[in-house]
Amino acid sequence: MSIQSYCIALNGSSRPHGNTKALLNKISKTLGEPYVSGMPIVDLCTLNITPYDYEGRNQKDDFIPLMERCIGEYSTIVIATPIYWYTVSAYVKIFLDRITDLMTIRRDLKKALEGTKISVIANFAGRNADVIKMVEGHINDLFSHLCDYLKMQYIGSYFIHMSVEQVDEKALRPLFS
Ligand SMILES: Cc1cc2nc3c(=O)[nH]c(=O)nc-3n(C[C@H](O)[C@H](O)[C@H](O)COP(=O)(O)O)c2cc1C
Repeated sequence: MSIQSYCIALNGSSRPHGNTKALLNKISKTLGEPYVSGMPIVDLCTLNITPYDYEGRNQKDDFIPLMERCIGEYSTIVIATPIYWYTVSAYVKIFLDRITDLMTIRRDLKKALEGTKISVIANFAGRNADVIKMVEGHINDLFSHLCDYLKMQYIGSYFIHMSVEQVDEKALRPLFS
């Protein structure tokens, strides 16, 4: 019998086997079961999810099926992103923009999304602590506002330098609850 976690992780990296995936694997190993075998990691770069279109011409791409999967089965969506140019990756931004589709063409899914939790896991390469603090503040603000607007729950973020070996289990556990 398979065990399932309450979380689904969306890997926003531009490569499926890069540092962000390595971080997610490290986190699930640290948290143990049910995360190791029960938390799906979806590599956004392997899906066909195109930027928001005002005319809804991309309704048949992979976005709606991904949302149906997230909403139906999981209470927490973990957004894992590399920091690219001081913010979330383009894959994450496109994913967020496409949530607009739920306010227009799939309102049923928008309603079902309410109450779902979001957390953010980010990794970066820079060494300037002030810059990282600024980026962290910006990303936390972005998700707080977004979750308020969508009636979702933002439960926080975890930022870590790509070279750090050990992750902080105590800080991470609430973000995967
Ligand atoms: C396009 C691009 C932009 C980046 N911009 C930043 C940045 O602004 N700040 C930073 O600390 N690291 C930056 N990095 C480094 C990445 O955040 C870091 O290498 C990360 O671990 C990459 O994860 P990935 O292998 O999953 O892509 C950038 C990397 C790329 C490819």
